[in-house]
Amino acid sequence: MITITTKQEMQQLAKQHKAEGKSIGFVPTMGYLHVGHLKLVKEAKKSNDIIIMSIFVNPLQFGPGEDYDAYPRNPERDKQLAEEAGVDILFMPSLENMYRNEKSIGMTVLRRTNALCGINRPGHFDGVVMVLSKLFNIILPDRAYFGLKDAQQFAVVSGLVEDLDFPLKLVPVETVRESSGLAVSSRNVYLNDKERIQAAAIYKSLQKAKELISNGVQDIEAIIGEVKDYMKANMKADIDYVELLSFPELEQIASPKGKVIIAAAVKFSKARLIDNIIIDI
Ligand code: PAJ
Repeated sequence: MITITTKQEMQQLAKQHKAEGKSIGFVPTMGYLHVGHLKLVKEAKKSNDIIIMSIFVNPLQFGPGEDYDAYPRNPERDKQLAEEAGVDILFMPSLENMYRNEKSIGMTVLRRTNALCGINRPGHFDGVVMVLSKLFNIILPDRAYFGLKDAQQFAVVSGLVEDLDFPLKLVPVETVRESSGLAVSSRNVYLNDKERIQAAAIYKSLQKAKELISNGVQDIEAIIGEVKDYMKANMKADIDYVELLSFPELEQIASPKGKVIIAAAVKFSKARLIDNIIIDI
């Protein structure tokens, strides 16, 4: 594995691989790698000649008061894990290399942000699409891999690729979970022992919703109510949201039909966790 730290060198190398006819699979991350990230690499290895992973904690997608400075970082461990997983090129640019001080361009996401995390994190997805547009232009991937744990991110990035005609295919990857059902996340390190046990109730409550829908329950409010009741009974945490929407449009629906997402965000003392289930009815 080689590590590249400037976008100029990275783009040069990507062009070289493309000229040799090699396909590039890209896994964008913010580091502090875990088995969820490594699953994306595993999927990428199935269909591409060269695997490029980026590690860049993108300040543009953190709002004021969010955890940009405190975001967990461990570059040395990340390098080891990426290499073991079979990454060929690790791209770790500095903040100064990625962004100029004075920007000429800003990006605004127009759809699929008026729900879920888009509401409580204004500007978050604008920052995500900006950094990904840059990374797609630097890395020139044939395929880019995204986890469905961040389903809204996948929906928004699908819109980005479509609207700006990026010549690449997005590949969704199923959420990796701990044996308790808790979705693996870099932010799980902020949970204390008690909270970690309780946090398993997030996925359990979403499965409850899935069960209700499978049993023919049509009333969206009733389903959401059951999810919230289960959470309240099993966790000491604030519920940020529980929503049942169409996917990937993320629009309100009258009853569960077609592809739908049941998504939740929950705040523990130091960690805000998200999870979801997507089902086709
Ligand atoms: P990050 O939170 O580091 O996540 C990188 C990728 O790993 C995302 O596609 C995310 O959905 C996926 N991922 C995280 N946990 C997962 C799990 N338990 N199972 C499967 N996939 C999982 O998402 C970002 O970084 C950033 O917003 C980024 C896209 C890199 C842009 O800055």
